[in-house]
Amino acid sequence: MKERFLVKGLAGKKTLKGVIPVFGGKNAVLPLLAATLLTKAPIELYNVPDIEDVKRVGELFEHLGVSFGRVAKDRYSINTSGISNGELNHEIAKRFRASIVLAGPLLARLGQASFPHPGGDVIGERPIDIFLEGFQRMGATLTERDGSYHLEVKKKKLQGMEYFFKLVSVTATETFMMAATLAQGKTVLKNAAMEPEITSLAEFLTSLGAKIVGAGTPVITIEGGTLTGTPKSFMVPPDRLETGSFLILAALAGDTIEITNCNPGEVEVLIEMLRRSGVSLTVKKNSIIVKGNGKVKNSSLSGMNVRTHEYPGFPTDLQAPMTVYLTQVKGESLVFETVFEGRLNYVHDLVRMGADISMWNPHQVMVRGPKVLVGRELESPDIRAGLAFVIAAIVAKGDSVINNVYHIDRGYEEVEKRLRAIGVDIERVK
Ligand code: EPZ
Repeated sequence: MKERFLVKGLAGKKTLKGVIPVFGGKNAVLPLLAATLLTKAPIELYNVPDIEDVKRVGELFEHLGVSFGRVAKDRYSINTSGISNGELNHEIAKRFRASIVLAGPLLARLGQASFPHPGGDVIGERPIDIFLEGFQRMGATLTERDGSYHLEVKKKKLQGMEYFFKLVSVTATETFMMAATLAQGKTVLKNAAMEPEITSLAEFLTSLGAKIVGAGTPVITIEGGTLTGTPKSFMVPPDRLETGSFLILAALAGDTIEITNCNPGEVEVLIEMLRRSGVSLTVKKNSIIVKGNGKVKNSSLSGMNVRTHEYPGFPTDLQAPMTVYLTQVKGESLVFETVFEGRLNYVHDLVRMGADISMWNPHQVMVRGPKVLVGRELESPDIRAGLAFVIAAIVAKGDSVINNVYHIDRGYEEVEKRLRAIGVDIERVK
């Protein structure tokens, strides 16, 4: 079903007020769900966001013979004891890159896994060579047929490995960490990703009995074996990207807004940059207040250069909302996207809205602000740029239509309801 958002812009006025809660993180819940495939023990996860990507994992689970049931609004019980095969349903898996994260635990548990090549993505090529190399280093044999990959391990046991990542990869780090918990011997991952999602996955795996040292640093050591721990229910951490996007919205269009149920330490880089730009923020243990900002004109806030970087640097996933921010504040700002080669294409639509942005090359744009944005009809290209368009539509003059809301629903649960509660005029239409 093609749904759209209709947004009435505030024409630069800073009137939004109230409390906006953050829900569980998409990029945190996906590896946790994958990790449940490593154990026969029943698991409960809570603070699970009601998003399309979780529904897709549920569908993949159903095809694998995994029981996946919603026991309360944000709580799911998962039982993988009936799992019968390691074949990911191709139709679902190829539309959805994160499905490759399920391949590691399947291979480790069953000795075989098969999955399609994930489709190209608007944000870049997104190859899977690191995954394939690592699986083979752990002793798997790879066959490629009709755009599908089949992995098999002799005697059903992966071997530990020492692996240096040529590029820091979040999901490959997660995948190898999971596979290594059931492998024979020790695995050392070097130049590993340090994102908070790696740390929460390691905590969960440890609760299942895994022996992991160093998660959250560039060197992670996993002592392989069996997972015999008795897991308790586990909380999906709050979405740091949702937190960051709400912060940017509050800085641009808020009078006083409190962002609750979040972990401010995970968006420290953004808090630091907004403060330097002139935004007044109060940081508490689990909430952030953007205070009294309604009186401060955006044109008195200053621009800055932004360079995306692996955690704890500035996240590529917040690059699009930050670029919207830079269109509204004073000065020239260079945005340098270092992680994905196609992640600045959405700026053409901001230019259509009146932004002054020049594209230097696929990785760099120069933003000159402040500029009045004008409401337009927009096509949400991917999840993060989709939410950035919602923010742009809120600060703009006039009405906007944002098509392809599915992309936003992939990662944000009922975002329009939460935005309406702080005063945004946004409606979902079919
Ligand atoms: C994760 O993707 C996130 N997805 C992305 O969020 C996020 O943008 C990205 O990390 C960077 O933080 C999930 O957690 C589900 P990478 P991932 O492997 O792991 C290259 C969102 O909007 N690479 O860390 O797929 C790759 O092309 C999504 O929620 C290879 O060359 O990203 C990129 O240039 C989008 N070969 C770089 O590494 C490989 O085999 C880092 O990407 C794998 C990756």
